[in-house]
Amino acid sequence: MEKVPHPIPYQGSKRLLAPAILKFFPGSPVRLIEPFAGAAAVSLKAAQRQKASNILLNDVNEPLMRLWELIINSPERIASAYEKLWNLQLGRERRYYDGVRERFNRGHAPEYLLYLLARCVKASVRYNADGEFNQSPDNRRKGMDPQTMRWHIEGASRLLKDRTLVSIGDYRHVLQKANPTDLVYMDPPYQGVSLNRDPRYIGLLNFDGFTATLNDLNERSISFIVSYDGRSGDKRYGKPMPENLGLVHIEIEAGPSSQATLLGRSHITYESLYLSPALVKRIGEVQNRHLTLTPKQISLLAQDAT
Ligand SMILES: C[S@@+](CC[C@H](N)C(=O)[O-])C[C@H]1O[C@@H](n2cnc3c(N)ncnc32)[C@H](O)[C@@H]1O
Repeated sequence: MEKVPHPIPYQGSKRLLAPAILKFFPGSPVRLIEPFAGAAAVSLKAAQRQKASNILLNDVNEPLMRLWELIINSPERIASAYEKLWNLQLGRERRYYDGVRERFNRGHAPEYLLYLLARCVKASVRYNADGEFNQSPDNRRKGMDPQTMRWHIEGASRLLKDRTLVSIGDYRHVLQKANPTDLVYMDPPYQGVSLNRDPRYIGLLNFDGFTATLNDLNERSISFIVSYDGRSGDKRYGKPMPENLGLVHIEIEAGPSSQATLLGRSHITYESLYLSPALVKRIGEVQNRHLTLTPKQISLLAQDAT
């Protein structure tokens, strides 16, 4: 199968789960709305498989969405900017990273964000209380090679150009545009992770506000898929979705958890998907509510977690 471009390294990206998520898309191409786009792994996969005719990408992180605009509409410019930063760092990687981080915090230029994400620990966006990017570099890595980055940027641009609109803001804003022929894929900041002392994402999501929004989408007969909680063995992460939303719960088996393996136990981790009643009506009764990734996908996921 053709490799899907994925230009933005991003912790929490659904790159490896995207093929499983696409199994619940309607048969014919839809307009896909991703209110919590991040690295937009599901949109990229859907575009590659011709499951999305149009795409609305939205995220509250402004520099990230400015970066998407450049990747989609000016791929040559952003690929060259990345190459320049990458080459200039050679031989003084640590100091150079700190300088780029400082410049990013002053002006939020998207090319700096791409470089920082490629170089920082776990490709994870972390901001301090003053809203400054404060993640440290991963000193074992130089960041994605510029030729490889160019391949990802050009490929993503080809897939998304002329069919994608980018917006910046709270998820509720873009959801006002949804209509019953669309499909909404939502991957909000993960409760189990973002409510600890080390939040991975900008802004914390209010659970009750989020479920009220899902209720509103149901009332408008909108088809949606939510990636939300998960479990590792018997330990659950995140509150389960309220029963009254009538969502169909799917579990994707994603292999042994790295934490449990370190401790010598072998707990299997599961990622949850929730399908809206309108979507189930469209795609028909879901026979298989338990999916398993292939061993190759599981081993890649384990590498991503390290
Ligand atoms: C789990 S990540 C999405 C990852 C994405 N599915 C991917 O494949 O890379 C969650 C995203 O939600 C965004 N976010 C957080 N709060 C938001 C809000 N209130 N409205 C819109 N986006 C928000 C974060 O900036 C982050 O990019």
